[in-house]
Amino acid sequence: SNTELSQRIQTVRQQLGDSLLILGHHYQQDEVIEHSDLRGDSYQLSQMAAESAACKTIVFCGVHFMAETADILANRPEKLEQRDGQRVRVILPDMAAGCSMADMAAIDQVENAWADMGEVIDTKTVIPVTYINSAASLKAFCGRNGGIVCTSSNARAVLEWAFERGQRVFFFPDQHLGRNTALTMDITNDQMPVWDPYEDELGGNDEQAIRDSRVILWKGHCSVHQMFRPEHVDAFRKNHPGIKILVHPECPQDVNDLADVSGSTGKIINTVKESPAGTKWAIGTELHLVNRLKQEHPEQEIHFLSPVICMCATMYRIDLAHLCWCLENLVAKENVNVIEVDEETSRWSLVALERMLAVK
Ligand code: 13P
Ligand code: SF4
Repeated sequence: SNTELSQRIQTVRQQLGDSLLILGHHYQQDEVIEHSDLRGDSYQLSQMAAESAACKTIVFCGVHFMAETADILANRPEKLEQRDGQRVRVILPDMAAGCSMADMAAIDQVENAWADMGEVIDTKTVIPVTYINSAASLKAFCGRNGGIVCTSSNARAVLEWAFERGQRVFFFPDQHLGRNTALTMDITNDQMPVWDPYEDELGGNDEQAIRDSRVILWKGHCSVHQMFRPEHVDAFRKNHPGIKILVHPECPQDVNDLADVSGSTGKIINTVKESPAGTKWAIGTELHLVNRLKQEHPEQEIHFLSPVICMCATMYRIDLAHLCWCLENLVAKENVNVIEVDEETSRWSLVALERMLAVK
C-alpha cells in the first residue's frame, strides 16, 4: 500500500540523511511530491542541481532529460574539484520516464538539418537554441556551435541573447515555445518556417523561406499541451464571465494568443499564489499540477482548461513503488537507474547550459 511504501521511503531517508537529495518537478503526482526535498520548474531544478552541495545522490523525480541535466551540472569540473573528485550520482526512478517532445529531435536529424540549411544560408550567422526538453547530445550540439539552452521561464531572454550574436535562430524541439516567444519580439510567422525532419528538401521549405527566416522552428510539440484548444478558452469565457486563462507556452499559438497569462510551471504557481481570493482561473497545463493548485487554493476558483484529461504519462511513471525500489537499492549499495552522461557530451552540453545560467 502507499502508506507502507511511504514509511519505507522515510526509513531510507533517515538512514541516508543529507547525502540524499530528492528533487521533484511540478508535474509529479502528489504522493511523490510529498517526498521531494525541493520542487521546481525545469529552470529552478537545474539551478538546484548546479548548487547542490552536501549530497552524494540526487534522486530525480521527473523525466530523463532533467536527470541528464542534473548529472551534467552537479558534476561539472569546479564542483568535482570542491568534492575531491567525488561524483554526485543521479538516479531516475523509472528509466522509461522519457519525454515525447524530446524524442522528436534526434541528434543525427538535427545535424542533417544544419548541414542542409548550410547549403542555403551561412550557419555561422545562425544561433542554435535547444529547449531544455531535449537529449544531452542536442545541448552539446548547441555548445559546439555557439548556441545555448533555454527553458520556458527564460526563452525570451535567451532569444534576445541569441539575436545579439547572430541573425537567425534555429530552435528545437518545441515549435510552440519557439513561436510563442518569438511573436513577442516583433518576429512574424512568415519569418518562422517550420523544419520537418521527415521531409527531404530543406525540411519541407523552399530556399527563399530559409533565406527570409529569422527563427527556424523544429517540427516538435508536447503531446500533453497540444490537447488544449481555442474552443476550450471560448467555452470558459462564455460560461464563466470574468474568468482568466493561464497556460503554459508549450500550448499551440492559437491557445497561447487567447490566454491572459502564459508561463512556466513556476510562473503558473506564482500567478495563482499572488492572486486575490475569488479569482477564477482556467489553467492549461499538466493535470497533476492543476489539481494540486485547486487543493492548495480553495479560496480561488480553479478549472482545468480542457474537457479531456491531459496528463503526462511519462512523468506519471514515477510512483512510490519506483521511488522506494531505487532508494532501498541505494541503501543496499546497488546502483540502479544511474544517469551518467559521457564526458565529451557533458563537456559541450555544459557550455550551452552555462551560457543559459548566465543569462539574466
Ligand atoms: P517547466 O516546468 O520548465 O515549465 O516545464 C514544463 C514541462 O513540460 C517539463 O517537461
Ligand atoms: Fe515532455 Fe510534455 Fe511531458 Fe513535459 S509535459 S515531460 S514536455 S511530454
